[in-house]
Amino acid sequence: MAISTVDHDQQWLDVRFSDGTVSRFLGSWLRDNIGAGRHISGGQRTFDINSLPAMTIADARHDHRAVTVSFAPEGLDETFDEDWLRSFGRESPDVVPAPTLWGAELQGSLHFEDFPSLVDDSKRLAAWLTHVRDHGFGLLENVPTEPESIFTVVDLFGYVRETNYGRLFDVRVEPDPANLAFTSLRIGMHTDNPYRDPVPGLQLLHCLINDSDGGENQLCDGFAVADRIRRDHPDAFELLTTQRVRFRFLEEGSTDLQSYVPLIDLDAAGNARGLRYNSRSIQAFDMPADVIAGYYDAYRILGEALHDPEGLIEFRLEPGQLMVFDNQRVLHGRSAYNEGRRHLQGCYADKDSLHSRIRTLEAQG
Ligand code: FE2
Repeated sequence: MAISTVDHDQQWLDVRFSDGTVSRFLGSWLRDNIGAGRHISGGQRTFDINSLPAMTIADARHDHRAVTVSFAPEGLDETFDEDWLRSFGRESPDVVPAPTLWGAELQGSLHFEDFPSLVDDSKRLAAWLTHVRDHGFGLLENVPTEPESIFTVVDLFGYVRETNYGRLFDVRVEPDPANLAFTSLRIGMHTDNPYRDPVPGLQLLHCLINDSDGGENQLCDGFAVADRIRRDHPDAFELLTTQRVRFRFLEEGSTDLQSYVPLIDLDAAGNARGLRYNSRSIQAFDMPADVIAGYYDAYRILGEALHDPEGLIEFRLEPGQLMVFDNQRVLHGRSAYNEGRRHLQGCYADKDSLHSRIRTLEAQG
């Protein structure tokens, strides 16, 4: 494609391309985005908007491949390539692709990827990390069962998010547990740590020992559930995305974590960005009387949807297997187990590093 014509006044530049499309560019925006305003390595802008003078477009001329604009009063000439100009004025893609929503139909195609194969194969690693990003979870096997091997998995894509539970936490039966996770009781579907800000983006759970009966892990796509509630129960969706509730984790003398947030968090485009759901750490609702009855209905709809077998996948982690999931999207739970030995190690990590790793692997080809 080429540039056919350009028109301008003091404020606007109109570029007609050879396919007949016309893009309109604001002069201030062009001046703000001149190539010389970016540092040569990394491309970071070297000035602030307030350092730019009030300016106008004094002239614009073109050939097939580029437009050269003269800015007044600076007397600055800058050339903008056709490819670069054409990359704007369209619908901007998000930095992360839309999630692939799922439900119980995934059960038949669950795949545990071979961990050692990922370590030296960047294409295979990129494919697995992309699955984690798009589906919100991934499964591995043949992870060494030595304690702390979970860190070698985190090293594939990012960094551990340390919390008051430490760099990692052990999930096994403890004598006087501060958390139901450290008992053999059933645990309903939930997200971890809704009382934090920000909530940990990824959780990893690595099985070292499992001689018990039961202890099946369940996962549920909270974004798929949010989508269904938006469609089938719009009034409930409205309440779940606007009314705030409190979460708290208290250990006397050492920790008092609190948040006050909607259960479903939307981004600026209205898409679900995160869910918090945790019956153990949610506090008594403190909304007004004219809201609370409707809110309880909405809360029940959400709770039922998150435990609906139609939305669940289920598997049992055996020694050497590991699951990673998006803790702001995918809920997890487990069935009760007997008192046989069961030892998992878990840790948290951030999603931005995962996304960054995928981009750099893709750039390497
Ligand atoms: Fe959990």
